[in-house]
Amino acid sequence: MSDAPFLLLQISDTHLGAAWDESDPEDGLRAAVAAILALPQRPDALLVSGDLTDNGTPEEYARVRELLAPLGLEPHVIPGNHDLRGPLREAFGLPGEGDEHASHVADLGPLRLVCLDSIIPGAEGGALDGGRIEWLDAALGADRETTTVVAMHHPPLRTEIPTFERIGLAPESIAALAAVLGRHPQVVRLLAGHVHRMIVAELAGRAVLTVPSTYLQAALDFEAPKLVMGADPPGFAVHALRDGKLASHVQTINT
Ligand SMILES: [Fe+2]
Ligand SMILES: [Fe+2]
Repeated sequence: MSDAPFLLLQISDTHLGAAWDESDPEDGLRAAVAAILALPQRPDALLVSGDLTDNGTPEEYARVRELLAPLGLEPHVIPGNHDLRGPLREAFGLPGEGDEHASHVADLGPLRLVCLDSIIPGAEGGALDGGRIEWLDAALGADRETTTVVAMHHPPLRTEIPTFERIGLAPESIAALAAVLGRHPQVVRLLAGHVHRMIVAELAGRAVLTVPSTYLQAALDFEAPKLVMGADPPGFAVHALRDGKLASHVQTINT
């Protein structure tokens, strides 16, 4: 047992290039990076859980890399519905080409990070069709010993927020994911973004966690017909692993 936990940093929904209101998404990411650098401990690895950019241009991805660079960590990224696989692959060296999903595995020593591509190109909602469930089952089967986290952009949960239900992960994909998890007890957590707020739920006995955006946050409203953004602060998460046990801390940022 080492004397320090392994720390996985999660940043989500940076949305560089977005102009949803008068605020600048670059300011949010800059504030997040500054807050992370001000922590007393440095994270060991970095996950960016989708919607890195608003338009998927190479210039926006280059800017994401520039703004993350002070962290000194290679970003492990997954596409969100606002990303484009081609330019994302180019910028971050992801596998696959064309319409293939960009899922991949990062072996981080004490933690295995499975990055699962949940997007449907051209759509806002997500799915795990097209061989992705089979890919996940095989990827998890390749190492059943190491503590594993599965990260995806679209969270496998019901938010009960109407807009997010319309653009969520397909229910049949959630069911198929649950079945795969049943065969892989080494998966201790499911991490996601997309909903721009923190939500905790459960799937196949594992906690499902969504983390805040570094840009704008979704308001708590279970009936609004359109998505409402609230005034909550942006945030990020630090997942602390020791001896196979993971504690997920969500940290808001004072801007
Ligand atoms: Fe987003
Ligand atoms: Fe999204």
